[in-house]
Amino acid sequence: ENSQEDELTQEDSDVISSLPTAEGWLSHYQGFWIPTEGMHGVLATQKHLQAHETDILLATAPKVGTTWFKAILFALVNRVCYPNPQQHPLLTDNPHVLFPSLETRMYYDKNKVPDLTFLTSPRLFATHLSYLLLPVSVKDSTCKIVYLCRNPKDTFVSLWHFQNKVGNLMGTRVPNSIEESFDNFCRGVSVYGPFWDHVLSYWKESLEKHEKVFFLKYEEMKEQPTIHLKRLAEFLGCSFSLEEEEKGRVNDILNLCSFNNLSNLEINKKGKSSMFGIENVSYFRRGQVGDWKNYLTAQMGEKCDRITEEKFHSVGLEF
Ligand code: A3P
Repeated sequence: ENSQEDELTQEDSDVISSLPTAEGWLSHYQGFWIPTEGMHGVLATQKHLQAHETDILLATAPKVGTTWFKAILFALVNRVCYPNPQQHPLLTDNPHVLFPSLETRMYYDKNKVPDLTFLTSPRLFATHLSYLLLPVSVKDSTCKIVYLCRNPKDTFVSLWHFQNKVGNLMGTRVPNSIEESFDNFCRGVSVYGPFWDHVLSYWKESLEKHEKVFFLKYEEMKEQPTIHLKRLAEFLGCSFSLEEEEKGRVNDILNLCSFNNLSNLEINKKGKSSMFGIENVSYFRRGQVGDWKNYLTAQMGEKCDRITEEKFHSVGLEF
């Protein structure tokens, strides 16, 4: 059996080594730029993941607020288990530890079929994969997908900072300048990108299957957190009761997961999450809407807006 496993792994290695690469660390797979490091995990996820009807998937492109929403969904879905906000797992663990990503090595390594029986229901998984790359079983099951997106300019600026900070750690080449990095992003060469195609893949699905895909913007959540948290709860089939609302449970979750609260916790100031040894502090920078203005020229902003308009206008999506 072992040798069969080895053979399959070899098959994957052959697929991976045949893929076009960019930047020295991204591989072009099924239309998207995936970190070569994570390709075994992606192939294994596609082959082996058996979705459960109760699974909840948080899908995001990197740097759109994944950490925030891991916290929000974890707190929302598990609120009955942790009624006391003073004694919550999020106070002592980073959201990435409590809510791991599907295709990272934690679960799917090489061709091993992972044992996920230790996960309690509903299982919470995060993924950076485009809808087009999700395992068939996720698409076919009635499991729910929450898709978070963010305006492309702020996403890019956040990504640029992050890659400068952790790039060396992960052994990836850091683009020399913000201009070079921005040009790559606009050409679609960005991690898990093209960014716009990533957003479109979920947007289209959410229009057709609104009971399956919940589509939300970072900016909307910043602006009207109460409304959107309640909508999210409804979508996931765990609406807040009147009693919970009167007790302030909606606000408890929002406060627990706020940028100020999470970023000031000891665990997030000093700790490291298990993913590649990245310091937790790297996941919290400014958490503001419109920070791009401090880094991109007006011209760069316009270029990005033009692409967004071209890609999104016809499908009714605006930023
Ligand atoms: P900035 O770099 O613009 O500050 P991800 O979690 O997908 O890696 O995204 C990181 C971005 O989300 C960073 O954006 C980070 O500061 C912001 N962020 C992290 N926690 C947040 C929170 N609780 N509320 C709002 N934004 C948050």
